[in-house]
Amino acid sequence: MKNRYLIGVAFLAIMILGAWSCFQTAQGTPVQKAVTADEQTLNRNRADSLLKLMTLAEKLGQLQQLDGGISKNELPKLIEQGKVGSVLNEVDPERVTMYQKIALEKSRLGIPLLIGRDVIHGYRTVFPIPLAQSASWNLDLVEEGSRISAVEASAKGVNWTFAPMIDITRDPRWGRVAESPGEDTHLTCEMGSAMIRGLQGNGNYQDGNIAACAKHFAAYGITVGGRDYTGANMGERQLRDVYLRPFKAAVDSDAMSFMSGFNEVNDIPASGSEWLLKEVLREEWEYQGMLLSDWTSITEMIDHGYCKDKKEAAFKAMRAGVDMEMVSTSYNEYLEELIKEGKIDIKQVDTAVRRILIMKFRLGLFENPYPVLSNDKTILSKEHLEAAKQAAIESAVLIKNDKNALPLSDKINSVAVIGPMADAPHDQLGTWSFDGKKADSQTYLNAIRNDFPENVTVNYAPGLKISRTIKKDGFNEAINAAKKSDVILFFAGEEAILSGEAHCRAHLDLPGAQEELLDELVKTGKPIVMIVVAGRPLVLTDLLPKVDALLYAWQGGTMAGPAISDLLLGKANPSGKLPITFLRAVGQIPMFHSHKNTGRPANENEWTQMYEIPEEAWQTSLGNRSHYLDEGYVPLFPFGYGLSYTNFKYGKIKIDKNKITPTDTFTAQVEVTNTGKTEGKEVVQMYIRDLFGSVTRPVKELKGFQKISLKPGETKTVKFEVSRETLNFWNADMDFTVEPGKFKLWIGGHSATKEFVEFEII
Ligand code: NOJ
Repeated sequence: MKNRYLIGVAFLAIMILGAWSCFQTAQGTPVQKAVTADEQTLNRNRADSLLKLMTLAEKLGQLQQLDGGISKNELPKLIEQGKVGSVLNEVDPERVTMYQKIALEKSRLGIPLLIGRDVIHGYRTVFPIPLAQSASWNLDLVEEGSRISAVEASAKGVNWTFAPMIDITRDPRWGRVAESPGEDTHLTCEMGSAMIRGLQGNGNYQDGNIAACAKHFAAYGITVGGRDYTGANMGERQLRDVYLRPFKAAVDSDAMSFMSGFNEVNDIPASGSEWLLKEVLREEWEYQGMLLSDWTSITEMIDHGYCKDKKEAAFKAMRAGVDMEMVSTSYNEYLEELIKEGKIDIKQVDTAVRRILIMKFRLGLFENPYPVLSNDKTILSKEHLEAAKQAAIESAVLIKNDKNALPLSDKINSVAVIGPMADAPHDQLGTWSFDGKKADSQTYLNAIRNDFPENVTVNYAPGLKISRTIKKDGFNEAINAAKKSDVILFFAGEEAILSGEAHCRAHLDLPGAQEELLDELVKTGKPIVMIVVAGRPLVLTDLLPKVDALLYAWQGGTMAGPAISDLLLGKANPSGKLPITFLRAVGQIPMFHSHKNTGRPANENEWTQMYEIPEEAWQTSLGNRSHYLDEGYVPLFPFGYGLSYTNFKYGKIKIDKNKITPTDTFTAQVEVTNTGKTEGKEVVQMYIRDLFGSVTRPVKELKGFQKISLKPGETKTVKFEVSRETLNFWNADMDFTVEPGKFKLWIGGHSATKEFVEFEII
């Protein structure tokens, strides 16, 4: 009784402070703001007061995240006993309410739960897969999509999501390329930060914001052979320069949590890596947020061969600084023992608990952790669907458009809608759409039927039931539909299940009999517009010559249909650009724009096609250059590439200083003109090369981009600031610095742009 009284008094103080902080939030603008120093101190004090009241068992309880699906029956009791800090995968608002009520009212200390869910690209309103969103290069749109995801998820009681995934990958075989922002560091930094801003907003859950989680720390995207869960063996410089930067950007964007990866980093599993989690994240970056393991990634360190048993796994993860354990229970089973044995200091546990409590205070869960029911009516609202549609429009990349096959001419009287993806409501949602419903999907076929002019006859015959099938019994119907139509719209690609976690592919062609179907369609002689609906970049080399136009639609989410229909009709103009290099062949992997030059770079004029090599040619007669005899040295389409229905002309690049000191700033600018007849958006991209230094640097690195809109005939000047921050890299002494020397700077519409200027750091 006395204990309860004491707790009551302590809590009153905490609540008053809490109410004060709530009031502060309510008075402030409900827009993104980093937590202020005052709020930080307040939350820390509140967490410390609470920590003082906690038993060891209650502390260990906070470190445990359990899966709502697996542990449904036991959860109420465990929550009441204070043995759970977080539940993932529970999105039934009634259950969440029940759990939170038990946590708040029945557990001894009344600590609310973090309710986690993979809201990766939308909740019920599903947005394009993250790789596609990256192709939009439109940060406002991405931020808005994440905001909407948070609002919808909060209605169900979700206060934390495991996004953004900011793992750079250069291997399209990896299934999680779908969830990644692509191959580039700068773009990934920007995409991740936009998502964090959108998800977290002002940080208060009752305002419809949820905590973000930067994952998977780190280097999960460096796979071996494109297979999932493998590992990263890489020098520290490249790790830092390429793969860690987006995570540093996430720290700077105030991501409330991080997730440690499944993978190894230089032979140590990330979830036990002291170098990564302690030295880099905590000591160097001074990250204050909470660090969660991935699903059983702590106990998987046994399978990795890094720990002999669960106890050692708990020890190594806690030693490295993982605060919360997802699903496996090694902390709860062994930390007490490890503390008694003096192997783990209770202060380490306190630190972990404090971070978890601070996150709960920051979100305002102590005041009100219940589902934000007022947001329920926004789910699938007109505004949300409109935003999803716009995201799908801007994500699509026009790859080929011979003789202006697109937009479709208004003289067309009939279209054949063919292919297994045309009416695949489940598959257009893509991977990680746990809460999306296929019944909400507006498919391509539906949209074409609804939105195309009434005089256009729509002849639908999929030809193939699903993307993988080799059953060709639908071919004849598809061929007949094609024959009686003016244009063929061929919706090909991959079902959702063929990408995403653990869904990797060794071949990157169209699965099943899709290419055979295309060959039959080609025989009809009708113009073919191919729309690729896929979770990864496929190898299009053999397909391209067979079609007149190709629109890469990715998996575009709930509103993919109306978005693509608008693009086909010219009601919208494509503006997506590739966030990852499109390859000529799987054997080119990894090929990406920011590669190194080598001592013998490929030379346009010296490259001999394999079939041109004379018989019994002398070994060195081909010039010994860095290329493939059978595929050359360039990809099919470079990073940053994408066409529009209009044309953009770039003027001369101007820089206001071409000799600067390392601390100077200068401006690079270019005039971009819309020379066509249609309004359009262009992604203006700036690339830089540091020509020589204490270590070699990539041939080109993206260092800035802006998406601008231009009316026909309109010209805009696009300016980029170049500063020390733009040029910093890890040099031979492992200093993050800028070195004197010469640089090249390009501004253009893709990474293979040729126009450049030079500048020098003196
Ligand atoms: C495993 C995945 O790697 C991670 O990204 C995800 O957030 C968790 N499972 C939870 O579902």
